[in-house]
Amino acid sequence: MSTTVVVGVQWGDEGKGKFVDILAHEADIVVRFQGGNNAGHTLVVGNERTVLHLIPSGVLNPGKICVIGNGVVVDAAVLVEELTALRKRGYLTDDAHLKISDEAHLILPYHKAIDLARERLRGKGEIGTTGRGIGPAYEDKIARTGIRIVDLLDDAVFEEKLRRNIEEKNLYLNAILKEQGLDFGTIHDAFRRHADAIRPYVTDTALYLYNEIQAGRRVLFEGAQGTMLDVDHGTYPYVTSSNCVAGAVAAGSGIGAGVVRNVVGICKAYTTRVGNGPFPTEELGDIGARLRETGDEFGATTGRPRRCGWFDAVLVRQAARLNGLTGIALTKLDVLTGLDPLRICTAYRADGERYERVPASVRLLSAAVPEYEELPGWTEPLSNARRLEDLPANARRYIDRLEELSATPFTMISVGARREETILRD
Ligand code: GDP
Ligand code: IMO
Ligand code: MG
Repeated sequence: MSTTVVVGVQWGDEGKGKFVDILAHEADIVVRFQGGNNAGHTLVVGNERTVLHLIPSGVLNPGKICVIGNGVVVDAAVLVEELTALRKRGYLTDDAHLKISDEAHLILPYHKAIDLARERLRGKGEIGTTGRGIGPAYEDKIARTGIRIVDLLDDAVFEEKLRRNIEEKNLYLNAILKEQGLDFGTIHDAFRRHADAIRPYVTDTALYLYNEIQAGRRVLFEGAQGTMLDVDHGTYPYVTSSNCVAGAVAAGSGIGAGVVRNVVGICKAYTTRVGNGPFPTEELGDIGARLRETGDEFGATTGRPRRCGWFDAVLVRQAARLNGLTGIALTKLDVLTGLDPLRICTAYRADGERYERVPASVRLLSAAVPEYEELPGWTEPLSNARRLEDLPANARRYIDRLEELSATPFTMISVGARREETILRD
């Protein structure tokens, strides 16, 4: 049985898209199991850059089956747009290559309106969400007032649920958030069109995956966001509204808890974060600016500049434990060329105590002062390296130290955004 999960170990944007695209060569099926179009996964193949928000990053590999699992929240308009753009480029031309769970919940326009209005009201205390309605959509799912794809395909059910929800959401938008209400007719018309566009792909994806795994098919699960954005294990409340750890695969795709064999963590050679919340190793001065510029650290979804800082081994070790990582792909090592010395955070100090784990308290984590060790840098560009031996000695030393601190084997090293700019160790 070959089942592999790819997860982000930091605050997202580690390079999951690149590695899902690479690992999809060895898979038959690629599955998204949580999150929504808050994700932005970038693939660089040849001279073409593709950013995917909902459709799994295996899609550029011909013949692979892409699955959107029940744990994903689906903005139908974004899905149809992404699908149309991919088909224009010659991908997913066979309807059988995309499968969407009938149990996945929809993101509706009121979710986006509520997300944006709440952020505005929070002012300086905003989370810095992507504004895609993710939190409000998951709220409705848990509150049992969500609308699922199976409902969308049954117009009488959809109409009734939509009418009831819009009535309630409009009261909330008007009275509490001081926003305009939304028009039932406009939303209903648009979603009838979306229903027709996605109907051919909708199925019982849990049953499909069960049968395919039984038949020995190789399945790759693509996480979105990152461990520190997980709603339980991340830097709450500065997190997303789903579980993004590897354990979410079973619930989010309907496979058994014992099915997953490999868990690959994607980890940047430094740290970034978009949006607000604690970030102990953040560099607000020249070094942060340098990482942002060299690493092109601007959000793939919202275009916002990413906050940048040194590698945080406390956080990565914690992510390795929470996900049960069997291997790590280290990305963007090339971005560190020219920085000397390089710093690695090995512990925090806060309130007179030393922490070798990420404390739950945001107050403590915001006050945490990193303990750093320093390693010498290198000046050579790395993007032509294809074997570890091609790397300068100091780059290898840096990798070895990160690997030791992360307590996980580094099985792949990435030295550029392109598919081929990769060192495979096994
Ligand atoms: P994801 O959300 O985890 O899929 O990551 P994003 O696509 O949001 O952000 C990662 C960015 O880094 C993208 O622009 C990638 O093309 C780029 N990238 C991935 N790996 C590397 C690498 O090793 N070096 C460089 N320079 N860029 C990389
Ligand atoms: P990928 O899959 C980085 C962040 C937002 C915000 C917080 C909550 O590309 O790694 P949300 O819209 O989810 O309610 O926002 O989570 N966030 C991400 N940051 N990469 C992502 O996805 C993210 N998805 C959400 O910036 O801080
Ligand atoms: Mg991203």
